[in-house]
Amino acid sequence: MSEVIACLPGDGIGPEVLEQALRVLAALPVDVETIELPFGGAAIDAAGEPLPQPTLDACRSAQAVLLGAVGGPRWDGAAVRPEAGLLGLRQALDVYANLRPAKQGEVDLVVVRELVGGLYFGARGVRDDGTVFDTCEYDRTQVERIVRRGFELASRRSRRLVSVDKANVLDTSRLWRRVATEVASDYPDVELRHALVDSFAMELVQTPESIDVVVTENMFGDILSDVAAAVTGGLGLAASASLGDAGPGIFEPVHGSAPDIAGTGAANPAAMLRSLALMLEHGLGRPDLAAALVAAVDSALTTVPTPDLGGTATTGEFGDAVIAALADVVSPSKEEPWTVVPS
Ligand code: NAD
Ligand code: IPM
Ligand code: MN
Repeated sequence: MSEVIACLPGDGIGPEVLEQALRVLAALPVDVETIELPFGGAAIDAAGEPLPQPTLDACRSAQAVLLGAVGGPRWDGAAVRPEAGLLGLRQALDVYANLRPAKQGEVDLVVVRELVGGLYFGARGVRDDGTVFDTCEYDRTQVERIVRRGFELASRRSRRLVSVDKANVLDTSRLWRRVATEVASDYPDVELRHALVDSFAMELVQTPESIDVVVTENMFGDILSDVAAAVTGGLGLAASASLGDAGPGIFEPVHGSAPDIAGTGAANPAAMLRSLALMLEHGLGRPDLAAALVAAVDSALTTVPTPDLGGTATTGEFGDAVIAALADVVSPSKEEPWTVVPS
């Protein structure tokens, strides 16, 4: 039986880049069925809520979730925001480990962002005097499981891990630092370094090539991963995989719905296509196809750059080039229905 991929186009450029991912997926030798479901602002318009129950049910029972982007000025004043659907989905699937790789030239790093805790999910409200509050909360278990992910990844890469916090000010960060230090004893091969988020942001801009695996809490990871994207070519290139301990992962670009360019054909689908590659690797267990797709995207980036990279290619033309490049590496063979030709 074929595996089901739940596809959530969302808003703005979300549907535009997801369309390219679906074209590319159809060109790959994988036995999957895709279903498209309303999500985000589009679902608010259609069903009154950003994460309708049928969408959530389909995501829960899917092999993986492929997501465009949500949000836009249209819903900014609304009682329910599209972003609430994204947070609800991440929480429902308990995809606590958000891997955000950033790679270009000498730079090759991964931000491992905690995704279902901290300020995003702590108590919030309005006091009688009108004061508004959001709270940052973490318990030991939440910290330990994400820090372990960081160590695991670091042990497969350079064996260097930097844990980013604000332990000079925040109690949650002091817990984070304590737990990271304790967990380190289980990974004697990995060198752990602690860094404060403010000076680490500077380091990320000034010497990104010296950084390998970064593990950090939700809000710091949100901000630092956009910075990492910027130092490696921009948001049009940055992909992500959100993984739990079991169940489907969510694969989505780091960027948002880019309302400023939506509908113009200028969206760079590379971030979405690299997220598709992460889905092939982590969601479908096909690292061979993931590598072929990454190579095809790299090739299209040189031959048909989109406007964000100084080129003139449209979103669709970029997709065409990726499909053409894939045809060179993924070809039918006699023994197997499909095989990846090593480069
Ligand atoms: P954004 O990431 O949408 O855009 C920031 C800038 O990067 C814009 O100038 C945009 O044109 C450019 N950009 C982004 N993706 C691009 C691409 N693929 N190709 C070319 N240029 C690209 O961030 P924003 O403008 O701050 O947010 C817009 C909306 O998106 C907000 O409603 C926000 O909440 C939402 N958002 C959603 C997600 C998500 O769904 N995962 C992520 C971030 C922001
Ligand atoms: C991201 C986005 C989301 C986040 C928003 C849209 C809720 O910025 O995926 O980086 O803050 O996590
Ligand atoms: Mn973000």
